[in-house]
Amino acid sequence: MLPKESAVAPPQVALADVRRLVVERADPIAGRCRYVADLGARQVPQPILLARRGESFDGVIENALPQPTTVHFHGLTLPEAADGAGFDAIAPGARKRVRFEVRNRSGLYWFHPHPHGFTAEQVYGGLTGLLVVSDEDDDALDAALALAPGNRLALAVAEARVAGGAMRPYAPSVEDCLHGWLGNRALVNGQLDASWIVRPGWVRLQILNACNARGLLVAFRDGETLVPFHLLGTDGGFLAAPRELDRVFLYTGERVDIAIDPGGRRALAAVSLGFDPRHHTQGAAPRHRHAARERYAPLAAGTVCERASGGAAEGRLADGSELALFALRVDGTPMRAPPLPSRFSALAEPAAGPEAATRRMRLDFDERAGFLIDQTPYRVDETAFSVSRGTREVWEIKNSPISMPHPMHLHGFGFRVLRRQGTYGDARRLATEPGGRLATDLGVKDTVVLWPNETLWLAMDFTLPQGDAFRGAQRFMFHCHNLEHEDGMMMRNFTVL
Ligand code: C2O
Ligand code: CU
Ligand code: CU
Repeated sequence: MLPKESAVAPPQVALADVRRLVVERADPIAGRCRYVADLGARQVPQPILLARRGESFDGVIENALPQPTTVHFHGLTLPEAADGAGFDAIAPGARKRVRFEVRNRSGLYWFHPHPHGFTAEQVYGGLTGLLVVSDEDDDALDAALALAPGNRLALAVAEARVAGGAMRPYAPSVEDCLHGWLGNRALVNGQLDASWIVRPGWVRLQILNACNARGLLVAFRDGETLVPFHLLGTDGGFLAAPRELDRVFLYTGERVDIAIDPGGRRALAAVSLGFDPRHHTQGAAPRHRHAARERYAPLAAGTVCERASGGAAEGRLADGSELALFALRVDGTPMRAPPLPSRFSALAEPAAGPEAATRRMRLDFDERAGFLIDQTPYRVDETAFSVSRGTREVWEIKNSPISMPHPMHLHGFGFRVLRRQGTYGDARRLATEPGGRLATDLGVKDTVVLWPNETLWLAMDFTLPQGDAFRGAQRFMFHCHNLEHEDGMMMRNFTVL
C-alpha cells in the first residue's frame, strides 16, 4: 500500500536522550524497514535527531533485521568503533553499545546502514535518518533570518519505484546494479507527494539526497518561473557567505542548506530539473557476488543483480529526468524578509599547504567487475594506503571518460574542493567560481560528484580530535555513494596512524 499523501512532520528527538536505537523490518512483504528511537519513556519511529555541537550519544544499537546491519553516521568525525562503517557489522538479533561526542560544525548529517553487500537494499528499504547539528553560527543565522515557526525543515529526499499502485521492493536487475537503482516518485521524509505549510518570510531548508543512485538538480518553480534561492551551506556546515542560485546539483549523500523567500507567492514546487546525466557505460553488466549475502535472506522476496530487467524495469525513471520532489504552501499575509547576513562563518578559501603531497586515484570501469577505484575491487581486509594523523594531502581524482557520475564520499574528514577540470557542459555552465568550481564546491564537503572525464583536486586534512577514543590506528573508507556502485565494490579502506 502507498502511504497517505499528506505531510506529517517527523518527530524530533535529542540525540543525547536516545537510550536504544532499534533497526527493524516493518513490512516483510515489501521489505520496508525503520529506525525506532527508544527514549525510555517512549518509542519514536523514524525520528529526526537533534544535537548541539559537543553533546554525546551513549546508547545501544539493536539489530532486529534478518540481515547484518550497522549505523554509520555520515559526515561525523568518529572513532572507528562508533563509525558503523561495516568493519564489524551487528548480526541479526545482536546489539552493540556505541558512544561518541559530536565534534562537527553545525549542519545536516545523517545515518544509514553500511554492512557491505546489504547497504543499498537496506537504505532503499527506508533506513535513512537525519541528524541536525547546531552551534552558535547556526543560532546566529536563524536569528538573523527571523524564521517563523515551521519555516525551518530538514528533508531527506529518497525515491520509490512505484508500479501498479505499490512500492516495489528492492530487486535490482543487472542493469540496475550497473546504473544504480532508480525509482519514479520522490519520498521526502518517507512521504510521497510531500507538502509543507510555511509562513511568509525566509524558509530555511536543509536537504539530503538520500536516493540510492539518482542525481538531483534541485530548483523551485512557481509555474514556469524558477524562483532564486540562497546557498547557505553544504555537507559540513556554512559557507563563508551566501550565494544566489536558481538550481543546484545534489548527488547521493550530499547536503545543501538553503534559504528561500517565497515573496508574495502562495506555493513553491521543489523539483529536480531535467539534465544530461552522463551515463556513458552501456551494455556490459557486471554481476557481483557477495559471499556474506548468500547466508541471509533478502528483506523482501527479490534477488539482487541476477537477471536482465525485461519488464521489471517498470517504474524506473531514467536518471536526469525531471522529477517532482515536494511542495511548500505559503499561509499568511506576505511580509518583507529581513536582509540575509553577508557572512555566516569564518570559513576560509581552501589552500593545499606547501607540504601537501599529491595522491592520485582513478575511477575506472571494468567489463567484468564494474566500477572500481584504481582497478581494485573492495575487500574488507585490504588497506589501500596509510596516512599519519595531521597530514595534509591533495587528492587528484580522475574519472575515466567512459564512465558515470560517481559521488565519492570520504568517511571521517571534511575536505575542500580546489579545482575541477574536464567538466561537461550542463555542469560547467553552473561553474562560476575560480578553478571551475560549482557554488557547492565552496563549502566543506564529505561527498563530491565527479562526472565522466573530470579531474578533481581536493584538499585533505587528516587531523583527528584529541582524546582517548581516537588513539591508535583507525580505519576509514572512501567510496562511491551510488549505493549499487558501493555494494558493487567501488570502495577502498585506508588507515590513519
Ligand atoms: Cu553515507 Cu560510507 O557512507
Ligand atoms: Cu560516511
Ligand atoms: Cu559510482
